[in-house]
Amino acid sequence: MSAKLTEERVTVPSILLRKQSGRKIVALTAYDFTFSRLIDAAGCDVILVGDSLGCVIQGGGTTLPVTLDEMVYHCRCVTRGASRALVVGDLPFMSYQASIEDGMRAAGRLVKEGGVAAVKLEGGVAVAPLIERLSSFDIPVMGHVGLTPQSFHRMGGHKVQGRAKSRVGAATPGSREQVIADAKAVEKAGAFCIVLEGVPTELAAEITAELEIPTIGIGAGAGCDGQILVSYDMLGLGGGEYPKFVKQYAALGASVTEAVERYSSEVRSGAFPAQEHSFSAVARKKVALIK
Ligand code: KIV
Repeated sequence: MSAKLTEERVTVPSILLRKQSGRKIVALTAYDFTFSRLIDAAGCDVILVGDSLGCVIQGGGTTLPVTLDEMVYHCRCVTRGASRALVVGDLPFMSYQASIEDGMRAAGRLVKEGGVAAVKLEGGVAVAPLIERLSSFDIPVMGHVGLTPQSFHRMGGHKVQGRAKSRVGAATPGSREQVIADAKAVEKAGAFCIVLEGVPTELAAEITAELEIPTIGIGAGAGCDGQILVSYDMLGLGGGEYPKFVKQYAALGASVTEAVERYSSEVRSGAFPAQEHSFSAVARKKVALIK
């Protein structure tokens, strides 16, 4: 059953208000117009044009090769399909790490050319000055800490973060202390919400309770203020292997295979196209090309 939504367009302030209202934030990724339209019409609050497109659209093993031009293109496709959801564009690897100016210009392109209402970037303490600058120039920022896919090589793969206590007292990369410090730095710098990815349930719940901005979890348990998944994973469009935190709500991959097999067999047997899919030389009445 799909709940009828009366809420107006989802905005940055309305996402912030969810922290007090306790109404969970529903978020999914999209990369093109068609999926954006469907996901928006189904009542999703936030659509993220994720750099996960490097894997699910481009077939790569990591998000690292994705370019800013590619993100701008996909943001433009997605914003055309969304009339209610807040659309957020991901800043790709090395579009913001080298300098604050790079980050400002990259974010500006996603907003100006891609049409998004906010940008997402990975990292905590290290990117806080950029988040502060973007926020002060009214480019809303969604933070992203914990398992940050752009840190693939430092983490040695897509690994759960924040499990271990730091042994040296101070926060060390991947430690519980580091994830907490990163989340707090992102909030302090002015982000309007934060993605917690691949962290233990207890840690995500603790951070959610400490922060005043909403947390959106992915592989972070049920204690967050909202949840996000890669749409292709939850719709069953992947190659069969999914992370543990993915629940599949459809098996679209199997449906596509079955439909293409039926089409192939009917083309080969001559069963398609039938008369109703064809035009006769004598048009008895005006026939529209599109049904
Ligand atoms: O790129 C992406 O899709 C993401 C989400 C999974 C949070 O960062």
